[in-house]
Amino acid sequence: MTNISISANIGNEVFQSPFINAAGVFDETAAEMNQILNSEAGGVTTKSATLKPRKGNPTPRYADTKFGSINSMGLPNQGLDYYLNFIEKNEINKPIDLSISGTSREDNLTALKKVQKSSFTSLCELNLSCPNVIGKPQVGYDLTAIEETLTAVFEFFTKPLGLKLPPYFDLQQYDAVAKILNKYPLTYINTINSVGNGLVVDAKTESVVIRPKGGFGGIGGTYVKPVALANVRAFRQRLNPEIKIIGTGGVKTGLDVFELILCGADIVEIGTALAQEGPHIFARLKQELTDIMQEKGYHQLSDFRGKLKEYQN
Ligand code: SIN
Repeated sequence: MTNISISANIGNEVFQSPFINAAGVFDETAAEMNQILNSEAGGVTTKSATLKPRKGNPTPRYADTKFGSINSMGLPNQGLDYYLNFIEKNEINKPIDLSISGTSREDNLTALKKVQKSSFTSLCELNLSCPNVIGKPQVGYDLTAIEETLTAVFEFFTKPLGLKLPPYFDLQQYDAVAKILNKYPLTYINTINSVGNGLVVDAKTESVVIRPKGGFGGIGGTYVKPVALANVRAFRQRLNPEIKIIGTGGVKTGLDVFELILCGADIVEIGTALAQEGPHIFARLKQELTDIMQEKGYHQLSDFRGKLKEYQN
């Protein structure tokens, strides 16, 4: 294990281990973010922030299921100032993924102007893919809206910017989205958000399992791993090499981390499994990933990143 490094870079940030929490899990309050920072996670993601604090959707709005989870949180968060203040007041020596998710383009631009004026220098992630804001479609499925948003953002935003994308399912969607993203100086994308508007049924009570939106919600966990692998792979094959990729979706073990990196992820984020297991998961992932690398004779992540092979007989 001694000569194995699992560090990774995005922009100017160095992640000593290639996994952090997914936005929305263990990151709404300072206490939760500190738990992530004190674990073996390589950095911390903040809960997607709106301009003002927000209560989110009515409860129950999250349920664990046999193969993962369903949620319709609706962006409960403490407001952007809270997260900027947490970052400014604490000496944080790990990378930060500051997630922004305004409920309109105007709000996103106002929030990013605030980040631009602040002393924040780590990674800022614009979430264009929350499926749970009642009455609002996911911007990431509207190509014109993605392009108009990015054009407006890069008129003033000069800090490292990433985009959180929804899952895509058609090769032409990847072509079209990548063509747009490649026009802008993005530092990274984060793919995938939950698979939006799934439905989980409790046969015993013959009802849905969460209250908002008639039970429709974002699906995470083991169900979505193949979709995450496909999105990471498809974007790595299409994006300019300087745009890095955070792979998110269905990671539970070191083997899942290995597979996402093999598909081209620079680092990965953990959502459902972190909600279920808690921040100790990062120490387990570190051990499991390192064991796999040792067994395969790899010394660093770049030895296998993006090197997924075609079908072998
Ligand atoms: C939520 O708060 O509803 C989840 C965040 C997201 O899916 O982007």
